[in-house]
Amino acid sequence: MNHNEDGALRFPQGFRWGTATAAHQVEGYNTNNQWWAWEQQPGRIANGDTSGAACDWWHNAERDFDYMVQLCQNAHRLSVEWSRIEPQEGRFDTAALERYRALLKALRERDIEPMVTLHHFTNPLWLEEQRAWLKADRIATLFRRYVHRVVAALGDLCDLWCTVNEPNVYAVMSYFGARMPPGWTDMGAAITVMQNLLLAHAVAYEALHEAQPSARVGLAHHMRYFQGLRRNGLDGLAARMISGIFNDSVLLALLHGRWHWILWRGAPVSARKLRGTLDWIGLNYYTRQRIAFDHTGGQALFSTLAITPGAITSDYDFGEIYPEGMSHLLRQLARYRLPIFITENGLPDHDDDLRPMFIVRHLRALWEMIQLGCDVRGYYHWSLVDNFEWSEGWRMRFGLIEMDPRTQQRTLRQSAWLYRDISRDNAITEATIRLHVPELVSQVFPR
Ligand code: FCB
Repeated sequence: MNHNEDGALRFPQGFRWGTATAAHQVEGYNTNNQWWAWEQQPGRIANGDTSGAACDWWHNAERDFDYMVQLCQNAHRLSVEWSRIEPQEGRFDTAALERYRALLKALRERDIEPMVTLHHFTNPLWLEEQRAWLKADRIATLFRRYVHRVVAALGDLCDLWCTVNEPNVYAVMSYFGARMPPGWTDMGAAITVMQNLLLAHAVAYEALHEAQPSARVGLAHHMRYFQGLRRNGLDGLAARMISGIFNDSVLLALLHGRWHWILWRGAPVSARKLRGTLDWIGLNYYTRQRIAFDHTGGQALFSTLAITPGAITSDYDFGEIYPEGMSHLLRQLARYRLPIFITENGLPDHDDDLRPMFIVRHLRALWEMIQLGCDVRGYYHWSLVDNFEWSEGWRMRFGLIEMDPRTQQRTLRQSAWLYRDISRDNAITEATIRLHVPELVSQVFPR
C-alpha cells in the first residue's frame, strides 16, 4: 500500500489534479449555437435563466486560470465551441481559433495541462438546422473537417483530446428525454444519434492521429451505477438492462467492436470499424441510480428512475452520493487495461455543506482503486466555478468557487481549500482531513 510513515494516502507521481468545464457553460454569449436559442424559449430552463455572460471566459478566463494556480491544480479539461470556430458552414473563424490558442497558452504558462473536448452538447445553429446528428455521412464529413481545423490550429499546444462528451446523455436527453434541444421524445432518433456520435468519435480519433502522431484520444463516458430499487428479481433485471444500454453499449462498440442489440439495427457502419479507437477512457461519475421495474411501461423499457430511500442527494435531489458506485465502475473499466481519467465528478451544493465530504470520500475510493491496480491518471472535479447548468440554469451550483452571475463576483468555498491541499500534497493527509472534515478522520484513516 502506498502509505508513508505519516500514513498519508499518496497518489502516483505526476497525477493530474484539475477541474472540468464546457465552453457554453462558462464562456458567455455563445449566441450562435442551439442552446442559446433554446434558452430564449419560455419554460425550457429552470427559473427562466439564460447563460448570458456565463463566467465571462471568452473575455477573461485568465482570472479563473489564476485561481487554478492558487489552488495548486496542474490540469484542466475545457471544451472548444464549434459554433465559434465554424460560425457558418465551411467558414472557419481564425480569430476564434486564436482566442483558443491564447487560452491554451495561458494554461501552459501556468503549468496547467489542458485536455480539450471537441463536442460538449452544443452545435452551431446551421448544423442543428440540418439535423446533421441524424445523418451518419453528413455528420462524419462535417465533424472530420472541424476536427482537422482544430488540431491544425491547436495541436502544438494540446495533445490530450476528448472527442465527445457523454454521447449517451446527449442522445437521450436531446432526442428522447426532451430536456435538451431539440427536445424530442423519439427513441428511434435517440438511437440513431447515439450511433452517429460513436461514429463521429471514431472519425475524430482517426483525424487526430493523422494530424498528430502523439495525440492521446479518448472520450468522456457518463456512467451511473445502476441497481434495482427493491430486492426483487424484476427491478434487478431492469437495472441490468438499462445499465447495458446506457453504460455498456459505448464500451461494447469502441472496445469490443460490437453493437449493443439496441444500436444494432440501422447502424451506419460495422462496429468492428470503431474498435480500438480509445487511447484512454474518461469516466464522468456522479451517482448511483436505482431502477424500478414498471409493468405499465415506466419512463422507458418498463423501467423508472428511482432514488434509494433515505439517501443523501445534494441540492434539488440531483443524485445519491455513493462513492462505492465509482469503485464498481472503475473495476469494470480496469479490465480494458487503458489509462483512465475521472473526467467529471461533483455535485450541486450551494452551501458547500456536503461537498467536502463528497470530495474526500470519492478521492479515498479512487486512491483505493489505484492501490488495487487501476491505472487512473487524473481527476477533474466538476467544476472550478459555478456555471450555467443547462436546463437547471443557475440554480445548481457545482463550483469549488461560488460565482454570482449578476456581478461576476467570486468567493472561494471551503471545498476549494480542501481540494487545494490534496492537489498540493498529491495525497490525502491526516492533517488535511483534520483541518477540513474532522468528522471523517476515523473513516479515512481507520486504525
Ligand atoms: C454532466 C455534463 C456537464 C455538467 C455536469 C453537471 O453530465 O457533462 O456539462 O452539466 O453533468
